[in-house]
Amino acid sequence: MSLSKEIQRRRTFAIISHPDAGKTTLTEKLLLFGGAIHVAGAVKSNKIKKGATSDFMEIERQRGISVATSVMGFEYQGMKVNILDTPGHQDFAEDTFRTLTAADSVIVVIDVAKGVEAQTEKLVSVCRLRDIPIMVFINKLDREGKDPFELLDEIEQKLDIKVSPLSWPIGMGRNLKGVYSIYDKKLNLYTGADKQIVEEPLQLTTADRDEFARYAGKEVDSFLEELEMVQEVYPDFDTHAYREAKISPVFFGSALYNFGVKELLEYFLKIAPAPGKNTTETRIVEPTEPAFTGFVFKIHANMDPNHRNRIAFVRICSGKFERGKNYLHVRLGKQFKFSNPTAFMAEKKSVIDEAFPGDIVGIPDTGNFVIGDTLSEGEKLKFTGIPSFAPELFRYIENADPLKSKQLAKGVDQLMDEGVAQLLIHQFNGRKIIGTVGALQYEVIEHRLRHEYNASCRYEPVQLYKACWIKSSDKAQLDDFKKRKYQYMAKDKHGRDVYLAESPHALHMSIERFPALEFLFTSEF
Ligand code: G4P
Repeated sequence: MSLSKEIQRRRTFAIISHPDAGKTTLTEKLLLFGGAIHVAGAVKSNKIKKGATSDFMEIERQRGISVATSVMGFEYQGMKVNILDTPGHQDFAEDTFRTLTAADSVIVVIDVAKGVEAQTEKLVSVCRLRDIPIMVFINKLDREGKDPFELLDEIEQKLDIKVSPLSWPIGMGRNLKGVYSIYDKKLNLYTGADKQIVEEPLQLTTADRDEFARYAGKEVDSFLEELEMVQEVYPDFDTHAYREAKISPVFFGSALYNFGVKELLEYFLKIAPAPGKNTTETRIVEPTEPAFTGFVFKIHANMDPNHRNRIAFVRICSGKFERGKNYLHVRLGKQFKFSNPTAFMAEKKSVIDEAFPGDIVGIPDTGNFVIGDTLSEGEKLKFTGIPSFAPELFRYIENADPLKSKQLAKGVDQLMDEGVAQLLIHQFNGRKIIGTVGALQYEVIEHRLRHEYNASCRYEPVQLYKACWIKSSDKAQLDDFKKRKYQYMAKDKHGRDVYLAESPHALHMSIERFPALEFLFTSEF
């Protein structure tokens, strides 16, 4: 098959949601359709359960699972589908943000009763930064929930996206009769929670009210009224606008009862974008370029503390990746040959010989890769768009075992390369600050330093509100700011200036008093 055909048949996407909205359940149902798994329950929930006895145990358990479920590929109707898994726990949000850089589109799962929740808002805002096309699945229709119009209003307002419903529910919860797909005029009848039979949808137009009423029962009139309103209020769906992230199609269903999932998958495959172009510091890379290029968006440390090898996840951006061929590791300026690249089919990991744009390959690594590294056939490219986010929690890190300072330094260095947290060096006192977006990261770091690096650390509190990168073309003002704020300046691992704002007020005042300065909350600049 030609390269462009391979590209055209690939769909690489992430499913995102607030914990408990049904991401794992939906993923599993999609995999069942693809034949990638054969029994329900095969995809373990990649989240830290509420009330878990020990967070460490959960972290370890999750790390084990998340290698297996990092990328799940399957074939469906001639298409190659790659689902990128994202951690469910909000303390790992940064990992999710980076994973989104490897996705060409996303499906957002929303719980019909809970509506738009905090984590959904945060994740969608990251998608919007990159104009990733978004499809919405409103889940758990077998339960009572919010009124669909109210819910769509909430989605438009809180997520700042325009929606176009492509299906509409008839009833909800105990009164759920079915879902009508607006785009192909088919009525998918809900056969009930105890009968999980996927029956063929009925072809019905709403013009035939009586025929409709035979299936929809007494709900028919209110449904027809609602449908009319939907067509009046919302714009018609337009694939082009969706691919430009200007409009999001909405589907309704119940992942648990496999209701509306097949429609979602098939429509998704029809409209979702194939792998597109990627930006580098010097030029745009088209997927159809014959030379292979790719970047590392995630590094996963091995579970076995005796073998400190890791897996670097590479998103293929152009050309064909081949096993055993020499590729340039651009940052190190060295050639590497990968003899055991792996791909992931649900739980199974297998060595692959080739991969195409949109695919994700796992490369065993002994410490050569950091997040954002580029591989190529020789061209010195650097892919952009893999951001770090300004940390929101801060602690000083100290060595708790003076005999192990080398181990500690190495451990901290490697964990930062994996993107677990960010290391900032306080310019005032030279102390090391670990900045994170979630409190759990501190436990992860301490635990992993002990188990994987035989080092021990201690944290000390540091009172800070937020950190942000600063830059300016006005050197005098920049120098003046740094002089005045010398107690609050730090450097990140690339030596860039970071302002450690002590309070919301201090940040606000700084922004006001130094108009020539840019205060940046993501590292992409
Ligand atoms: P997450 O990955 O987004 O965190 O959510 P997950 O799929 O784990 O689903 C969270 C809970 O919601 C699970 O119940 C799951 O069974 C339930 N759920 C998912 N989709 C639906 C749906 O369409 N309808 C209904 N009624 N429930 C749904 P749990 O009791 O927390 O876990 P479990 O013991 O069933 O695994």
